Amino acid sequence: MTAVFKDINKFRSKISDAKGSIGFVPSLGALHEGHISLIKKSLTDNDFTVVSLFLNPTQFNDKNDLKNYPNTFDKDLKILEELKVDYLLAPEPNSIYPDDYTYKVTESKLSNILCGATRPGHFTGVLTIVAKLLNIVNADKAYFGKKDYQQYLLIDNMAKALFMKTEIVPCPIIREPSGLALSSRNLLLTENEKLIAPNLHKVISGDSTIKEMYSQLTDLGFKVDYIEEHWGRRFVAAFLGNVRLIDNVQI
Ligand code: PAF
Repeated sequence: MTAVFKDINKFRSKISDAKGSIGFVPSLGALHEGHISLIKKSLTDNDFTVVSLFLNPTQFNDKNDLKNYPNTFDKDLKILEELKVDYLLAPEPNSIYPDDYTYKVTESKLSNILCGATRPGHFTGVLTIVAKLLNIVNADKAYFGKKDYQQYLLIDNMAKALFMKTEIVPCPIIREPSGLALSSRNLLLTENEKLIAPNLHKVISGDSTIKEMYSQLTDLGFKVDYIEEHWGRRFVAAFLGNVRLIDNVQI
């Protein structure tokens, strides 16, 4: 049975009694096979696994995006119970932001490119909430998917820069058989958009030039935010209707 904690102090006193290694998987909720793969890795690697479900408002630069984000708490809890996750931390916004978001963790280099260039404040919101959660959970290892590769790098660098105890573990991107990277946002795609979406991965995995990839995606109905190459990987962000999808591949 998964023990559910909304109260941060009660969770902290419980987790401090845990005798053994602790693995942590933070999430915004709307769990899918991508999260499940992170949770399974944590369950295999550690004596205890903590999952957090917190729809973090500070990382949403677009209020509509936050409003539309799928909320599937009961379904998520059922998944965690089936997987035999030990602890679920689901704090209220006021309790995790007692400072009303006056204290922030910012990064001044890597966070300015890719998603950081088009989503102002997004990574400050992510780094601040992840720093809070890492402090609260005090895990040995925390697991992040490489679909959000820039996020993973920023969190890994933050943990090292701030001498945090938790090791940040990158995990493979989980894809549908069509190639579409799993994302909670896929739930927001219409039936027709679902048929088009796998082309995002297909196009960036090809050997066209970046300019040609822009045109191919635009012709398919995507509104491309960026296609760029960094750290031996090719990154894409593009809107399909109102849904912003991201992906990356090794080159
Ligand atoms: O990747 C996510 O789901 C979120 O950005 C995270 C890391 C849980 C922080 O809210």
